[in-house]
Amino acid sequence: VFDLAIHGKTFSGDLQELWTYVEKGVIACVSKKRVGSADETLELSADEMLLPAATDLHVHLRDWGHSHKETVESATKSALLGGVTTVADMPNTQPELTTPDLVRRRVQLIKSSSYVDFCLHCSLPREPKLLIEMKEAGAYALKFYPKDLYFFEEYAEYASKLGLKSVVHAEELALIGTAAEAKAELNAVKSLVRRIRKEWEVRFAHISTAGALRRILGAKLNSSKVTLEVAPHHVFVDRQSCVKRIGVASAVRPPLRSKRDVSELFFALVSNLIDFYATDHAPHTRDEKFCPNPSPGFPALEIAYPLLMTKVSDPAIACKVYCERPAEYLGIKKGFIKPGYDADMVVFRRFQQRIQGSNFVSKARITPFEGEYLGYSVKKVFIRGELACSSGLPQRVSVRHIK
Ligand code: NCD
Ligand code: ZN
Repeated sequence: VFDLAIHGKTFSGDLQELWTYVEKGVIACVSKKRVGSADETLELSADEMLLPAATDLHVHLRDWGHSHKETVESATKSALLGGVTTVADMPNTQPELTTPDLVRRRVQLIKSSSYVDFCLHCSLPREPKLLIEMKEAGAYALKFYPKDLYFFEEYAEYASKLGLKSVVHAEELALIGTAAEAKAELNAVKSLVRRIRKEWEVRFAHISTAGALRRILGAKLNSSKVTLEVAPHHVFVDRQSCVKRIGVASAVRPPLRSKRDVSELFFALVSNLIDFYATDHAPHTRDEKFCPNPSPGFPALEIAYPLLMTKVSDPAIACKVYCERPAEYLGIKKGFIKPGYDADMVVFRRFQQRIQGSNFVSKARITPFEGEYLGYSVKKVFIRGELACSSGLPQRVSVRHIK
């Protein structure tokens, strides 16, 4: 007798009518036929389908000195509501995550209040040799902000030796906010591509321009360890359209781009050239967004997965970039509905709904997608077979820290 059985349209390689059986939090069997009984059986209706839950590699959970923008609780509830069961937290916290002690404190905080599994990026410690302690304290990757790129080689080399991944926000600091800002990303990418050594694991975060995309695709031909991440606001919306919707609140780093950039990024996404889709969930309050010097970034965890499914209309691509590859990158058994994998799964329902930032559970309620339609809603979310969210109600189940 299994713990749980789910029967209905299921994505496992392709979409088909399947029985999925869960035992002790793990997918035990996936079959076209019924193979046994279960303590609980869920029968999906014709307008529902079962997909793997998502892993989001780029999330600012905030909290601490930024609790007014977002807390671990509000951010991870939004993750669950959006079908995301693993998040990778970014280290530009208040205070910034630059010491082993802060990493340890952050692990404790997230463990005690998160609704989903998590891992941590750390910022550059005072000296590269402290990276070993950052890793031991619980960081899985090192994040380079534009201000840190000057020290890239020194730290990336050290990180690589320790098996700590490097993640870069590629924008040339000197150009940000200037008339030459359009070149900031491409310049930084060109310079980084020249400096990266073959053995370094380097992920380019939130790539936003066609030029940078092409450069990185070129670099990927030389190194299988270079990866490429895109955010929903760069692949699905151009600057002009967003400004019409939300005006000055359209600010984000890197900035929103032209229709041409957006269509090239979108083409790369549906052509399976992009490794990861990740929100860059970067919450700010309404007052911080609608002001003369608006803070950059948007919340997106609640809509990212249904939005991706709506836009690419192909679960194979959606699952590759938001479930399978991010989980493989973290070395966790998630992202697939197949035996041996964690039973982290989402029931999607076909359901037309308008996106309204004011309905978000995230404390930040401004979105570049205001007024757009989603073709799906997230009905149920399971973490290791436990029902963690049902009809919009997140429940805290036990969560894991991924190192
Ligand atoms: C980030 C944030 O708000 O933490 N914002 C963003 O637009 N991506 C910070 C940053 O990456 O500059
Ligand atoms: Zn970010």
